[in-house]
Amino acid sequence: MSLVEELRSTEFARLDAGGHVYLDYTGAGLYADSQLAEHLEILRGAVFGNPHSSNPTSAAMTELVESARAAVLAFFRASPDEYVAIFTPNATGALHLVGEAYPFRPGDRFLLTFDNHNSVNGIREFARARGAETTYVPSLAPELRVDEAVLDRYLTDVGGDHHNLFAFPAQSNFSGVQHPLEWIEHAHEHGWDVLLDAAAFVPTNRLDLSRHRPDFAVLSFYKMFGWPTGVGALLARREALAKLERPWFSGGTIVAAFVQREWYQSAPGAAHFEDGTVDFLNLPAVEIGLRHLDRFGMEAIHDHVEALAAALLDELDGVRHSNGSPAAVIYGPPSSDGRGATVAFNFLHPDGGIVDERYVDRVAQADNISLRTGCFCNPGAGEVAFTIARETLVGGEFGEGMALDDYIDAIGLPSGGAVRASLGLASNRADVERFARFTGAFVDLESVPDDLPPRSGC
Ligand SMILES: Cc1ncc(COP(=O)(O)O)c(C=O)c1O
Repeated sequence: MSLVEELRSTEFARLDAGGHVYLDYTGAGLYADSQLAEHLEILRGAVFGNPHSSNPTSAAMTELVESARAAVLAFFRASPDEYVAIFTPNATGALHLVGEAYPFRPGDRFLLTFDNHNSVNGIREFARARGAETTYVPSLAPELRVDEAVLDRYLTDVGGDHHNLFAFPAQSNFSGVQHPLEWIEHAHEHGWDVLLDAAAFVPTNRLDLSRHRPDFAVLSFYKMFGWPTGVGALLARREALAKLERPWFSGGTIVAAFVQREWYQSAPGAAHFEDGTVDFLNLPAVEIGLRHLDRFGMEAIHDHVEALAAALLDELDGVRHSNGSPAAVIYGPPSSDGRGATVAFNFLHPDGGIVDERYVDRVAQADNISLRTGCFCNPGAGEVAFTIARETLVGGEFGEGMALDDYIDAIGLPSGGAVRASLGLASNRADVERFARFTGAFVDLESVPDDLPPRSGC
C-alpha cells in the first residue's frame, strides 16, 4: 500500500467511520487530522496579538504570518525577488484584487477562455466599466479544450501600447481539462499580462512558478488541503503588481494617511493589497497544510488521483443499458491525458434523454456519496458541453419573478447542469468501486419521480 493510500485509515479515518464516499475535492479538499492537531498546538502554546503592531504578542504573530508567506512562495518555487504572495480570503478575493486594480483603459483588451469560473468571468464587468473590450475564446466539444487556432489569433492580433489581460484556468473546474501552461509564455511574447486561475489545479498538480511565470496566479488553500478555510492567495510578479491601481486604501495597506490633507502613502509589497487584518490565526495552518502535501510530494499525489480518475472514467464509459446504449455521457476528455481528476458527466435514459441531475443527487445522498451537481459556477464550459447557442441565450429573457427552472424550460435546455465527481489525496479504490455500484442505479432507468426540488441556482 502506498503512503497516500495508508492515509485513509489514519489521517482520514473519519471518512470510512461515517461511511462516506467523498467525491467533491474540486469543491473543497479534506484536512488530515494531524493538520488540526498541529495548528491547535501552536495556538495553545503561545499568546498571539494582531500582527499590525510591534508588541511581543504581535511580533510573535508577525513571525508566523511571514513564515507562512515564505512557505507559500517556496512551495510554488517562486523566487521572492520575482513574486509576492498576498493573502486574500479566497481565490475570488484574489481575482477581485486584480480585476478591480488592473489599469484597463478604452482600447485595452480582456481576453479569457469560455472555460472559466464565474469569479474570473466577473472581471469583465471591471473591464467594461473602464472601457476595455472583453473577448472570449471558445472551447470545442466533446473534449472541451480551447480552440487553439482562435486563441493564437487573438493573442497575436495586438497593436499599440495597451494593457491587455489574458485569463485562463490551469485546470477546468467543470471538465478537468488542463490548459497548456505554455500559453503564458506565448501571451507574454505578444505583450499580454497573464492571470492564471490555479484554484482547481494546485490541489493535485505541481505549479512551478520558476518554469511558468504568470503575472498573477490565484488559489484557495482549503481546496488544496481542507484547512483553513477563509484564506487564499494572489501570487503576483512584482513587475505586474506595480501596474495595478488600487481604487482605495484601508487599514493595513498604507504607511501613512492624513485627514486634513487628503494624502496617503501606500505600504510596499503585499501589505498594499491586504485590506484590514489578515486571517492571522489561520495562517500557520497554511504552512502546516503545505508541509502535509510535501510529505507525499505533489508528483505522488498527482499519480494517485490520475490512476483513480482513469478507473472512474472507465466505469462511466462502460456503463450500458440493456438495449446497449450508453447510460452516461462524459463532458470533456474521455481518457486521463491532459486532464485532472475532475469528471463532469450526466446519466442518460435508455432513449438518450438526460437524467435530471437532481435525481442523481437524490440517489447519491441516499448512498452517502458527496457529488456536485449543477453548472459549478462555470457557465461557459456548460454552454459548450450542452451545445447551447448564443442565440438561445439571447432569445430567452430571465423575467421578473421567474424561477431558474422556468428559465431552463423557456430556453429549452436539456437539463439544469451536469454531475461532477472529483478526486483528491484521500480518495481510494473503494471510493471508485462504490461509485461504480452507484452507476448501476441508472441502468434501464426510464423516468425520474416528479417531486424533485426546484433548482435554486446554477
Ligand atoms: C477554477 C476555480 N476558480 C475559482 C474558484 C473560486 O474559489 P473560491 O470560491 O474559493 O474563491 C473555484 C472554486 O470552485 C474554482 O474551482
